[in-house]
Amino acid sequence: MKPESKIASGKTKTVYKLEDPSLVLIEFRDDVTALDGRRRDSIEGKGAINAAITAKLMQVLNSHGIPTHFVEFRSPSSIVAKKLSMIPLEVVCRNIAAGHLVKRLPFKEGSPLDPPIVEFYLKDDERGDPMVNARHIVALKLASFDEVAFMEETTLKVNEALKSFLASRGLTLIDFKIEFGRDPSGNLIIGDELDPDCMRIRDVSTGRVLDKDLYRQGKPLNEVLEAYLECRRRIVEGD
Ligand code: C5P
Repeated sequence: MKPESKIASGKTKTVYKLEDPSLVLIEFRDDVTALDGRRRDSIEGKGAINAAITAKLMQVLNSHGIPTHFVEFRSPSSIVAKKLSMIPLEVVCRNIAAGHLVKRLPFKEGSPLDPPIVEFYLKDDERGDPMVNARHIVALKLASFDEVAFMEETTLKVNEALKSFLASRGLTLIDFKIEFGRDPSGNLIIGDELDPDCMRIRDVSTGRVLDKDLYRQGKPLNEVLEAYLECRRRIVEGD
């Protein structure tokens, strides 16, 4: 299966056609962005790290019976995935208060959230990815009420699966973002990525930050790379 041509290119990933029209090749690039793409850098090796972590975490979900687009890892920095029609929503799940939540609502940074919170955001850089509820999503014709409920339930299952897997590797899952797409039969499946670009991960005992928050905070790029390498060591090589 040779990549023939580019289908799409986002902020950090490029999607290529494959001979089998039901599959795509997703290449994770070394780019890192923040502030809706207004800040951008490149960290050599980050693409390969994120591809390997995404492959591992999607396999963890598949082993819990949660369908994802993941088919196989293609060294060094790509995955083969089922081709989906992506829904332009970001589904965020939070276990511990951080990030935008503590800016918007009276939660104290670092406090546990019981129950975990699930939020939907519209993928729309021009509007700053606004938060939306089920009625916005249905009125925007992005999904049905049943599909919104399914995405929320699935996100909570993903949370349980990831939280326990990461805990077994000495990591705390603060929050994460996933995206859904439809397969040709209309089934909702998890697409996109699962890596330190889209989740907050801390070391259980020291609280060390091991994710993109370091880049958001303006830390040196080598420090960001070191944290991503540590994530890969624990998540992928910890087997
Ligand atoms: O910024 P906020 O606190 O809403 O982020 C919640 C979680 O969603 C974090 O893990 C963050 O990395 C992820 N996220 C993302 N892409 C966005 C917004 C948030 O991956 N555009």
